[in-house]
Amino acid sequence: MDTLLGRRIVVGITGSIAAYKSAELVRTLTQEGADVRVAMTRASQRFIGDITLQALTGHPVATDASAEGTSGMEHIDLARWADVIVIAPATADFLARLAHGRADDLLAALCLATEAPLVVAPAMNHAMWQNPATRYNLTLLRGRGIRVSGPASGEQACGEIGPGRMCAPEQITEDLAGIFATRRLAGQRVVITAGPTWEPIDPVRMLTNRSSGKMGFALARAARDAGAEVWLISGPTHLAPPDRVHFHPVVTTEEMKGAVEGCLPADIFIGAAAVSDYRPAEPQREKIKKHDERMMLALIRNPDIVAEVARTKPRPFTVGFAAETSDLVSQARRKLLEKGLDLIIANQVGVPGIGFDADDNEAVLVEQDREKPLSRMSKDQLARRIIDEITERAPSAPVTPV
Ligand code: C5P
Repeated sequence: MDTLLGRRIVVGITGSIAAYKSAELVRTLTQEGADVRVAMTRASQRFIGDITLQALTGHPVATDASAEGTSGMEHIDLARWADVIVIAPATADFLARLAHGRADDLLAALCLATEAPLVVAPAMNHAMWQNPATRYNLTLLRGRGIRVSGPASGEQACGEIGPGRMCAPEQITEDLAGIFATRRLAGQRVVITAGPTWEPIDPVRMLTNRSSGKMGFALARAARDAGAEVWLISGPTHLAPPDRVHFHPVVTTEEMKGAVEGCLPADIFIGAAAVSDYRPAEPQREKIKKHDERMMLALIRNPDIVAEVARTKPRPFTVGFAAETSDLVSQARRKLLEKGLDLIIANQVGVPGIGFDADDNEAVLVEQDREKPLSRMSKDQLARRIIDEITERAPSAPVTPV
């Protein structure tokens, strides 16, 4: 996701049985690279121990008791430190206190003192959630720009069924990321290819490669978070399709080409797929039996999707990838010119820990007259950098209405 990398997030926990899910939330946010601090109400400490949250964040937890022995300015310090405060779970009582600007414990005071965006993830019995008092409090909170994450519907701790369950930590994480997502590509249409292609030899065999699709999927998320409408056309991978992205799974290069053509015109095209250059000339209907010691497999050239996109009119800002084992920059520049691209992202392959199937990558951005090395980082971080670089270069006015 990477939007949360280095973000300072205060997780406020109030007294609900859903507090056990706060530990998972804290863990997820930490895994996303956020710097997380926890503040707990006295009631929440009956549901989950502060030691658990201290261990997960690596920092002492702010509680009413911890504030007593200090200057009393803890709430001000945390309020200033936070990039965002999320109250998860937020009880009906806490929402009421928040709506009325109370400052009668550390967490409420923290919310009153901060200028950071506030997010609440309500958790309560469905009747309490539907009560007009709660509805009214939420109207007040929303009117002040406070964001509400959830709640979900389903079976509740009391055994009844209805709306009021705290939503899943992943959903809250996604909502928090949305706050930081910039809108630089708002209104732009971005088409991305990802993953390998499979070229059938017979019904059970195929030609393919080691591409995992991770880079293309990360680019799709980064472009989406930058406000673009994204079409992700992917060969077979084990990855879950990103939320809020148009996802077209394909198998062969011909299918990928057809799907890409169906998504044009676009403002930006990124060819991150490891497309098979060749395919078996005559895929067999029946499984091929073994006979001789040596066997010839005739191959024919596949269409070059990114090069064809670069020739279309209106032409999108066209970006390719080049995986090379040697002469990285010169090989990439040759492909940039041959395919008629605006930008090519060159990767050294065959280095352990980066490139194919790895979580990290390092790359050089190559243009006709200059190049820019990007040092080793996660594919999510690299995707965000690449989208930043594309945004600086691509025409800012969308050429296609979304
Ligand atoms: O020529 P090479 O395969 O190294 O070029 C890599 C770039 O070209 C990538 O952006 C890849 O997605 C794209 N490509 C393509 N269609 C092909 C071969 C490569 O779009 N048939």
